[in-house]
Amino acid sequence: MAETSPGRVAPEQRETWTHNTGFILAAIGSAVGLGNIWRFPGVAYESGGGAFLIPYLVALLTAGIPILFLDYAIGHRYRGAAPLAYRRMRKGMEPLGWFQIMLSFVISVYYAAVIAWSLSYFVFAFDLRWGEDTAGFFVGEYLQVGDPEVSTTIVSAVAIPLVLVWLAVLVILALGVANGVQKVNMVFIPLLAVAFAGLVVRALTLDGAMDGLDAFFTPDWGALTDLSVWIAAYSQIFFSLSIAFGIMVTYASYQRRKANMTSSGLVVAFANSSFELLAGIGVFATLGFLAFQQNVAIDELEGLTGPILSFVTFPAVISQMPGGNIFGIVFFASLVMAGFTSLISILLGVAATVQEKFGLSRRAAAISVSAVCAVISIGLFSTTSGLLALDTVDQFANNVGIVLSAILMTVLVVWVVRKGELLRSHLNAVSTFPLGRWWLALLGIVSPVFLLVMLGQKLVSLIQDGYEGLPAWYIGVFGWGTIAFVSVMAVVLAALPWKGRDEPDFRPWPALEEEHRS
Ligand code: ALA
Repeated sequence: MAETSPGRVAPEQRETWTHNTGFILAAIGSAVGLGNIWRFPGVAYESGGGAFLIPYLVALLTAGIPILFLDYAIGHRYRGAAPLAYRRMRKGMEPLGWFQIMLSFVISVYYAAVIAWSLSYFVFAFDLRWGEDTAGFFVGEYLQVGDPEVSTTIVSAVAIPLVLVWLAVLVILALGVANGVQKVNMVFIPLLAVAFAGLVVRALTLDGAMDGLDAFFTPDWGALTDLSVWIAAYSQIFFSLSIAFGIMVTYASYQRRKANMTSSGLVVAFANSSFELLAGIGVFATLGFLAFQQNVAIDELEGLTGPILSFVTFPAVISQMPGGNIFGIVFFASLVMAGFTSLISILLGVAATVQEKFGLSRRAAAISVSAVCAVISIGLFSTTSGLLALDTVDQFANNVGIVLSAILMTVLVVWVVRKGELLRSHLNAVSTFPLGRWWLALLGIVSPVFLLVMLGQKLVSLIQDGYEGLPAWYIGVFGWGTIAFVSVMAVVLAALPWKGRDEPDFRPWPALEEEHRS
C-alpha cells in the first residue's frame, strides 16, 4: 500500500512532550546509559586508546548522526512506535518495526538486571560491604554464579532489586510520556550531570590520575588498520546513541508538529559523546589511582570493561580511596540514574507498540509489558547462571542484531520503498539545520556498505571461533537463538491482525512545501 497522501490533518489524540527541552533531555537520558559508563572507557582503551577517537568520530558522523536523523524522521512523520510508523510508510515494512521492537525487548530484560546490581551496590557502598576480595564478592557472594550453565535457582539478592526496577518502570510507563518519562528525565539528567562531574573532578585529584589519562589517551595508531577496532567503534555508537532499535522512532513520534528535529539531534549526539568522553576520563583517572596504589602499570590491571569494571574493579578502588564510600554511593547512584532513563526509553517503544497494535489502553499496555519483561528478566538473569546468559545475549543482540537492523532500515527505506528524499524534505521543513543530499549518500551507500562488511566479519568470527570458549549448544541457544527469536517473532507479530486505531485515516504531517501546495 502506498503512503497515504498528505493533506489537512484530523487532530489525533497522541501525547506529546510538553516542550522541546523535555524531548531533548529524554533523548539524552536514553542515549546516556550503561553503555557510556561501563562500555566506552574499556572499549576505547582496548581499541587503540587516543587513536580510537578517530574511528569513533567517523562512526558518529557517517552513521550515528545520519541514522539518528532517520529514526527521528520516521517517528516524527508517521507518529507511531516502530511497527506502526513503518507500516504507515508501507504496509509490508511492519516486520522491520517489530524486529527493532523485539530487539528492544531482549535488551531491556538484561539491561534491567544490571540496573538491579547497581541498586544493590549503591546500598553496599554505604559500608563498603564488598570487602577486600571484590571479585569473589561479586561473582560468589552476590551473584552466586554456579557450575551449571543453565540454572533455575533464583538469587534473592538480585531478584528483589530487580522487582523494584520493574515496578518503577511500570509506574513511569503508566504515567505516560509527559507525566512519567519526561518528568523522570527532567530530574535525573541534571542530577546525573552534576553527580558525574563531581566524580570526575574527584578522580582527577587522586594520586596517579594523570598516568591513567596518559594510558587512556596515548594513541596506538597501528590499531587503525585493524577492522575489529572499526567494528567496535560502530557498535559502540549504535548502542550508545540508542539508534536502529526503535527507541528514537518512538521518542520522535511524541514530538509536536513544529519541532526542530535535526538541531535537537545534534545536541543529543554531542551531549552523549561528551558524556562518554567524560566517563572515559573519570574511569581512567580512577584506574590510574588503583595502579598507583598497587605500584603497577595500568596495562597490568585487569577487568577494565563491562560488568567487571563497574562491579569488581571500581569497588576495589573505592575501598582504597579516602572518603571512598561517598564516591561509591555517587558512582552507583549515577549508574542507576543513567541506566534507568535508558531502560525507560527502551521499554516505551515496546509498550507503545503493544498499545497501538492491540488497541490497549496505556495502562493496560504498561502493565502487560512490565509483567512479561519482569518474569523473563527475573527467570533468566537473577539466577545463578545469569551473568553468563547476560553477556552472551548482549554480545549477539548488539553486534549482530542492531547492526543487522541498521542495514535493513537504511537499505529498505532508501532503496526499496524510496522514502529518503521525502524524509529529507520532511526534516528540512521543520528543522533549522538543513540536510543536503550528502545525508542520503551516507544513509544509502556509506553506512550500509560499511555495516555489511562489519557484520560479515563479525559473523565469520562468531561462526569460526565461537564466543568466549562457550560450548556450541550454549551459543546456539543464547546467542543465535536470540537472533532467531527476534526474527521469527517479528514476522509472526507483524502477521497478526492490527487491532488498534486503523491507519487508513492517517495523514502524515506534510512537509511545509506540500502543505502550501495543498
Ligand atoms: N544508549 C543506552 C546506553 O548507552 C542504551 O546504555
